[in-house]
Amino acid sequence: TTHKVGYLIGSLARESINRKLAMALVRLAPPELEMSEISFKDLPLYSYDYDADYPPAGRAFKDAIAAVDAVLFVTPEYNRSIPGGLKNAIDWASRPYGTNSFTRKPSAVIGTSPGAIGTAVAQQSLRSVLSFCNSPQMNAPEAYIQFTPGLITDDGEVTNEGTADFLRSFMQEFHMFIARVRSALPKDA
Ligand code: FNR
Repeated sequence: TTHKVGYLIGSLARESINRKLAMALVRLAPPELEMSEISFKDLPLYSYDYDADYPPAGRAFKDAIAAVDAVLFVTPEYNRSIPGGLKNAIDWASRPYGTNSFTRKPSAVIGTSPGAIGTAVAQQSLRSVLSFCNSPQMNAPEAYIQFTPGLITDDGEVTNEGTADFLRSFMQEFHMFIARVRSALPKDA
């Protein structure tokens, strides 16, 4: 069976290396995973003042998450955490109270940075947020990708064979994880 995966790219930068990584993951994913981007760049800054009457951008964002079987976070590390835009998006999806979009929604986390730590600290921070949001997370494999110049082309071709193999197996594991979580859910969940 196929599964729909929505991916969120934590960076809004035009030349984002995490966008390149996301393109690579789309190319390397097993055919059972239907990959589509869920954009959050048009969301205003969240406040619970919006809860009584969610604006269209907030509704559309929650609808996009509801429409997929799993969520993949491809994020940079900014100041040892996730970018503010991504946290803002997660806050939007988690509300209004009682309608948290992440409940029972399987997720995985990956990211790349030029530094050797490869977004490890940001990923730990994101995992705490996703735990509170009740998203079942793939624990392993972890993926901390150091972005050396030219590692991934703009359209997502991975130039290092070992890295390509690793990213391919990451997506295969995510596929199996999604299947496991989904099969444990009641049909209407
Ligand atoms: C960074 N960068 C960075 N890198 C890192 O490994 N740990 C960090 O804490 C930070 N902090 C940080 C803060 C801010 C505000 C910026 C703009 C950058 C460097 C970062 O990894 C690099 O710019 C990547 O290119 C960011 O990924 P995207 O946005 O290109 O996908």
